[in-house]
Amino acid sequence: MSHAVSSPDGRIEVTILLAGGVPYYSVDRLGREVIGKSRLGFVLRDGRVFNRGLEIGDVTRSSYDSTWVQPWGEVREIRDHHNELRLEFVESAPGLCRMTVVFRVFNDGLGFRYEIPGQPGLEQLVIMDERTEFVLGETDNAWWIPAFMGNRYEYLYQKSPIRDLEAIHTPLTIETADGLFLSIHEAALTDYASMALRRTKDNTLECDLVPWADGTKVKASTPLVTPWRTIQIADEPGELVTSYLVLNLNEPCRLEDTSWITPGKYVGIWWGMHIGKYTWGSGRNHGATTENAKKYIDFAAKYGFVGVLIEGWNTGWDGNWIQNGEIFNFTTPHRDFDIEEVTRYAAERGVGIIGHHENGAAIYNYERQMEPAFYYYKRLGIDMIKTGYVGTRVNKTEWHHGQYMVEHYRSVVEAAARHRIMLDVHEPIKDTGIRRTYPNMLTREGARGMEYDAWSGDGGNPPEHTTILPFTRMLSGPFDFTPGIFDLFFNQYRPNNRSNTTLARQLAHYVVIYSPLQMAADLPENYDGQPAFQFIVDVPADWEDTRVLHAKIGDYVTIARKDRNSEDWYIGSVTDENGRTLKTSLDFLDPGREYVAEIYADAADADWESDPLAIDIYEREVDYTTNLEINLGPGGGQAIRIRPVNE
Ligand code: NOJ
Repeated sequence: MSHAVSSPDGRIEVTILLAGGVPYYSVDRLGREVIGKSRLGFVLRDGRVFNRGLEIGDVTRSSYDSTWVQPWGEVREIRDHHNELRLEFVESAPGLCRMTVVFRVFNDGLGFRYEIPGQPGLEQLVIMDERTEFVLGETDNAWWIPAFMGNRYEYLYQKSPIRDLEAIHTPLTIETADGLFLSIHEAALTDYASMALRRTKDNTLECDLVPWADGTKVKASTPLVTPWRTIQIADEPGELVTSYLVLNLNEPCRLEDTSWITPGKYVGIWWGMHIGKYTWGSGRNHGATTENAKKYIDFAAKYGFVGVLIEGWNTGWDGNWIQNGEIFNFTTPHRDFDIEEVTRYAAERGVGIIGHHENGAAIYNYERQMEPAFYYYKRLGIDMIKTGYVGTRVNKTEWHHGQYMVEHYRSVVEAAARHRIMLDVHEPIKDTGIRRTYPNMLTREGARGMEYDAWSGDGGNPPEHTTILPFTRMLSGPFDFTPGIFDLFFNQYRPNNRSNTTLARQLAHYVVIYSPLQMAADLPENYDGQPAFQFIVDVPADWEDTRVLHAKIGDYVTIARKDRNSEDWYIGSVTDENGRTLKTSLDFLDPGREYVAEIYADAADADWESDPLAIDIYEREVDYTTNLEINLGPGGGQAIRIRPVNE
């Protein structure tokens, strides 16, 4: 017996069937198989299973079409248009257990989740395994990072045939043999373990829930609603970037007033620590001193940055903080940091301070102090906090991605919302679209950011890194990548490291890598007197619209975004280690309107290895009929601001 549900445009069809009491689903697009017959269900600790001996119970259908507005984001409006099918599965014997699987099919993919209602004898349950499968094509390839590793999500993406994969994180991006592009991920990860994927046979991936230290996967009570398992489907990789399916599967905003949530750009006492100019801990080179903070505040005020991040301001950094996170104190500043004076000085100049809570993954210590620490910051006028969870296991026992931490990260978002605090989370749980429900969850790390260029023993992020991120990590949500390094060699501090880009490419990252909070990461002295800095001053962090103009995963990407608060458009384009010219139509501009393009381009001889600083900055008139040739040097990029003439 089978049931089917299609996308509103009829192109995607999901079929759910029961074979010998076992539930399966499959997905076709335009009659071609995208996901083969894949199993559904669970194994519980008490021996009960929700994956065989089942019959189909109630079946209900509905359709939905409405448009909602993001308080901030990569586009203003998002249309949620889907068909829903709810299928109840009932155990034929002996316990008559019931569960419902809900499918929502959109024009750009689908999501499904399990609902286990309250029922006699099943008030509490422990999930030992979720049996959700994704059967892919025999010759499909994937861009992936490994799961169950010490550095969380911070690995370079690799491309391999599905049959060579082991355990990997989502979002997982797949190029099918048919030339389609898929992203497998999850939405609304709440009170549950996060989903890694493990290849079980041939080209079959199975949900591999991140376990608790005791080996169980999810401890829950009924009614239980799991996160959505999502499959986005696109003809072109750029369509994955502009698919908002994961957000559509999250609950609407729970905050009545979001006017206090403000995207923007920031600077910080930060890069100096990563290259070794400053220390987080106390001593001669301590970065977070009152005097230094004032210098950064002056710089932020001069150029209109909304915030100054100050790391290493509190006690707990001295010694091996990664091992000793339990001594971090979140209300005691170092002696050379007068926090009252710094916050007063900043407020006087209209600059916000971005607080910092690195907890070294010592969660007991952090949770004990969190409320007083939020009060402390709020009293000082600090309403944005960067958190950090460095370490391979939290409390030295649990994964960063298991249910324990899913619940912790959420409790921080909720507590922050109560205090009207915005968050930037480093070493986070992966993004599953929670920002829709809690827009104070502004941005996060969860991938290899710019800091790897400062100290990584493998030479930092290779040029192709940011040509892959938009189609992989970025599909989950905003990334605090921290672009904007102008002194690409920092020889004075770290002669064996460098940033593997051209200068123009550093600018392009502000458009290519979306974040509502963007850092100008370099030392202020490296920006002074640099004409290229004007682009960082101008570029917004909140967008009306987003278009992907070129996309070849691992080779190049060009993205255009329209400012939310003006008629300006911005373009960012980056390439891998190969230089190239990309022909670019500006047909997204308003017809009949004249514009000026302010272009920050790799100079003719620019090359990330031999001549990375060679940049040409110039203006030209453009309109919607213009075809630009974007020239990118090896490892290079181009950034463009397009503004209407005389407006
Ligand atoms: C790692 C974070 O990614 C980085 O931004 C921060 O400076 C350090 N941890 C210290 O908290």
